[in-house]
Formats: sequence, C-alpha cells, structure tokens
Amino acid sequence: MEVVRTIAELRQHTSRWRIAGQTIGLIPTMGALHNGHLSLIKLAQGKCDRVIATIFVNPRQFLPNEDFEEYPRNEESDIQKLIEMGVDLLFAPKAPEMYQPDASTTVVISKLTDCLCATSRPGFFDGVGTVVTKLLIQALPDLAIFGEKDYQQLLVIKRLTRDLDIPVEIIGAPTIREADGLAVSSRNVFLSQPNRETASKVFEILKKTATAIALGNDVLAACKEARTELILAGFSGIDYFEARHSETLELIQNFENSGRLFAAVWLGPTRLIDNLEIKEYRD
Ligand code: PAJ
Repeated sequence: MEVVRTIAELRQHTSRWRIAGQTIGLIPTMGALHNGHLSLIKLAQGKCDRVIATIFVNPRQFLPNEDFEEYPRNEESDIQKLIEMGVDLLFAPKAPEMYQPDASTTVVISKLTDCLCATSRPGFFDGVGTVVTKLLIQALPDLAIFGEKDYQQLLVIKRLTRDLDIPVEIIGAPTIREADGLAVSSRNVFLSQPNRETASKVFEILKKTATAIALGNDVLAACKEARTELILAGFSGIDYFEARHSETLELIQNFENSGRLFAAVWLGPTRLIDNLEIKEYRD
C-alpha cells in the first residue's frame, strides 16, 4: 500500500486506475482506525476494484473548546491495519495541503443542520461538508462509504453531493458495536473503566425505547423516560435523546412505521453519539 500526502500524488494514482477502467471506492476517516472503519473498507472492497482510505483530523470540524489536540492519532498502527486489509492507497495529507492560509470557501448545508449535532456543535457540519467535498473532488471516486453511526453526517453528505452534482454514489453502512452494544468509536479510548461499563447503557436504552415506541407507547413520553434513565445510569449530561424522521430529521410525535432514535450523551469529558431505527427489538 502506498501512502501519499499530496493531492497531485493522489491524482496520479486515480488517473491511472480510471484509464485502466477500474472503479474506485473512497473511505474518509480521521484515523485511530477501529472495526467500524474497517467494516467500511471491507464493504468498499466488495464493490470496487480499488479502495482509497483517507486519514485527516480535520481542524475545521472541531470547535475551539473541543478535543482537536487530544483527538487520538496513531498513524503507524493505522497504516499496519490498512496494509492487512489490502487497501490500495492511503491519502494522509497534512493541514497545509488541505487548506491554503487564505482559504475562503466553506460548504454550508442549510437543511438537516438545524438539529441534533448541528445544534450542540455549531459549525461542525460546515467543517465536515467542506472537507468531504474537497476529498471527493480530489479523489473523484465512484463511491464513498460512510457509517450510519454518524447518521446525520451521512444524510448531510448525501444531500451535499446531490445538490452540488458531485458524481459519486454515497453508501451508508451499519454501525459496528462492541459485544455489549456500545457503538465502536475512536473516542471510546477516553472512557475510564467505570464509564466504559456505563457507556453500554446507551444502546440498551435506545433498544428499549425503540421497542416501546414500536409497540405503541407515546413517542415524547418514551424519550423523556429514556433521558431520565440515562441520568440515573450515571451519564453526566444529555445533548439530545429524540425520535426523528429517518430522511428529513424532523421530530416525530406519532410513530407511523418509520423513524429513528438519536442520542448524544456525556460521560465526564467524553461525548458519545448513537442512533437506532425504531422497531421492535427482541433479545
Ligand atoms: P471518523 O469519526 O474517523 O469516521 C470515519 C467513518 O467511519 C465515518 O463514515 C463514520 O460514520 C464511520 N464510523 C465510525 N464509527 C463507526 C462504527 N462504529 N460503525 C460503522 N462506521 C463507523 O466521521 C468522520 O471521521 C469525519 O467526520 C469525516 C467524515 C472523515 C470527515 O472529516
């Protein structure tokens, strides 16, 4: 696997592949690779001739008070994992390659960004939208895969590629979980042992609430009860626990066979997000 740091080198590879008639899949990441990332790569390998992974901890999607400096970075072990997976190319640019000092353009997505993570992390989706647009234009892949773990991000990226006519297929991939249900995340390494045990309650409460709503319980009351349970379980804060439409992200008050629960919670300094389709779950 070759590791390239510049857009010019990336394009040398992609042009060669395109001329040879090979299809290209892109997996954008911020590194600290885990099984969730690796599942996206595997999915892309089943659909494309060539797979490119990108690692770039995008400064533009962190607020000034967020964990940009502390965000886990371990490129050597990431490269090892990508080699073992048989990835064709890693694009791992440094910040100056991605952003000129006088960069003046931002991709702002106006719908889908008035709720959930957009409210708790203002400016976050401008940063994501801008970097993902750039990565797609740099690599011009046939398809790019994003996790449902970040469901709002997936919808935002689908919307921006449609609106900007970027010729790429955006594919959503299911959330990979630890044995106890906790959604795998690069930030899970920040959890202390007791907090790690508490963290699995998010999925438990999501499943229980989804089942209750699917069986006819009142949507708002079920979400309120879930928030109370989260606090009782030891979570230090809740940004949101809500039921929303799976495509428009509008709040739903009556469940009519389609919808998703969305949760963002705090355990000390660590923010966890997760989401789940509303349906009946049986253990
Ligand atoms: P990052 O958090 O590194 O995630 C990269 C990709 O992996 C995203 O598409 C994310 O949804 C997916 N992913 C994360 N955890 C997952 C899990 N448990 N199961 C399945 N997929 C999972 O998301 C970002 O980076 C950035 O915002 C990025 C899109 C790279 C733009 O900077």
